[in-house]
Amino acid sequence: MFHLRAGQVSDNPFHMLAMNYRGPYRIRADRHKPDPEILHPGDAIIRVTRSCICGSDLHLYHGLVPDTRVGTTFGHEFTGVVMDVGNDVKNLKPGDHVLVPFNIACGSCPFCRQELYGNCHESNAEASAAGGIFGYSHTAGGFDGGQAEYVRVPYADVGPVKIPENMDPDDAVLLTDVLPTGYQAAEMAGIKKGDTVVVFGAGPIGIMAAKCAWLFGAGRVIVIDHVEYRLDFVRTYAQCEAYNFKSIGDPVLFLKKATDYYGADVCIDAVGCEAEGSAIQTFTGRRLLMQAGSATALNWAINSVKKGGIVSVVGVYGPTMNLVAIGNVVNKGITIRANQASVKRLLPKLISHVENGFIDPKGIITHKIPLEEVAYAYRIFSSKLDNCIKTVLVP
Ligand SMILES: NC(=O)c1ccc[n+]([C@@H]2O[C@H](COP(=O)([O-])OP(=O)(O)OC[C@H]3O[C@@H](n4cnc5c(N)ncnc54)[C@H](O)[C@@H]3O)[C@@H](O)[C@H]2O)c1
Ligand SMILES: [Zn+2]
Ligand SMILES: [Zn+2]
Repeated sequence: MFHLRAGQVSDNPFHMLAMNYRGPYRIRADRHKPDPEILHPGDAIIRVTRSCICGSDLHLYHGLVPDTRVGTTFGHEFTGVVMDVGNDVKNLKPGDHVLVPFNIACGSCPFCRQELYGNCHESNAEASAAGGIFGYSHTAGGFDGGQAEYVRVPYADVGPVKIPENMDPDDAVLLTDVLPTGYQAAEMAGIKKGDTVVVFGAGPIGIMAAKCAWLFGAGRVIVIDHVEYRLDFVRTYAQCEAYNFKSIGDPVLFLKKATDYYGADVCIDAVGCEAEGSAIQTFTGRRLLMQAGSATALNWAINSVKKGGIVSVVGVYGPTMNLVAIGNVVNKGITIRANQASVKRLLPKLISHVENGFIDPKGIITHKIPLEEVAYAYRIFSSKLDNCIKTVLVP
């Protein structure tokens, strides 16, 4: 990776334009690194056509992910045109327009062979948990991401998929993470016909999880957040109930009352480590960093699900400990299912769902912003300004 030394300028006109992380809340787009090159015969170089900002990027932006190095370019949700391929690449050729799953996966390790593409053992030196992820710090392999003009894609025969001819690239870019993650959240929840499903979080992931819950036969879908414009959005987009946790009293009690005091059949955590709603969790997890973020939404999920129910977690947490209500998990007999989404596994099905009109992923895009204005784009998404739900950066 290219790092600036003291006195070095970051605006070399011969370098590509790329998002540049300078420290928490400090990012910009500049020309601080050269165009990427083929480093391995399995690589492809891709000229980015669309690149989204994700809730996961906010954890990086807020300085919560360990070993996020200055100079890193974020961006794990992107589409682009293949410019060059290494000698071993068979499935792609220059000129192909592809969508690239956010997981970097080798395709042949024991975990990839089980279709656990988010847990590849080869793509990340820190392979004890998640595999490599584009633009997601050195704890996820140290790969540069797609919030740039060009990006290097390792294992290019495994992840990238040619965008079907009739598919809108705005739909395609949401197939790299948001739709598969929302779908997997609903899938892991084991929803049965008629189930009451509660989704915590009305960001892009929670919105998709709510939408997908119906595909699995849910009878009732309830979304909890505290950002009113997002609650309004999800009510329409996912045709569900949606409540502001700041105006319903204790959300756990509210949900118990709403379910004959049994609790929901399944709960989905689509919030993760930056959850609000509990002063003690926020103070210990987000201010003092004594735990890996705040487990507020996860605890609400555990406490609102019925006995024997399932809690599905796609919200991101750090590897160290959290103050989670494990006693309630044991005593209620709850099953917790969690993972990074396995995008490649889900793509064939989800591409056909989009082509058949079952889901309209691009419907959640609220902003298209030039890459030059990346700092503004992060600010409005992070601070929930201008009714922002999903932003696409266009290089
Ligand atoms: N597992 C995966 O593969 C995967 C993939 C993508 C994103 N993620 C994670 O999913 C989470 C959501 O992503 P996003 O893009 O929707 O992010 P986002 O930041 O846009 O949305 C999170 C939402 O949660 C709300 N929220 C905060 N505290 C809450 C609480 N206690 N209860 C209910 N809602 C609360 C926020 O107001 C916000 O609207 C993030 O943690 C992200 O890192 C995981
Ligand atoms: Zn993402
Ligand atoms: Zn692998």
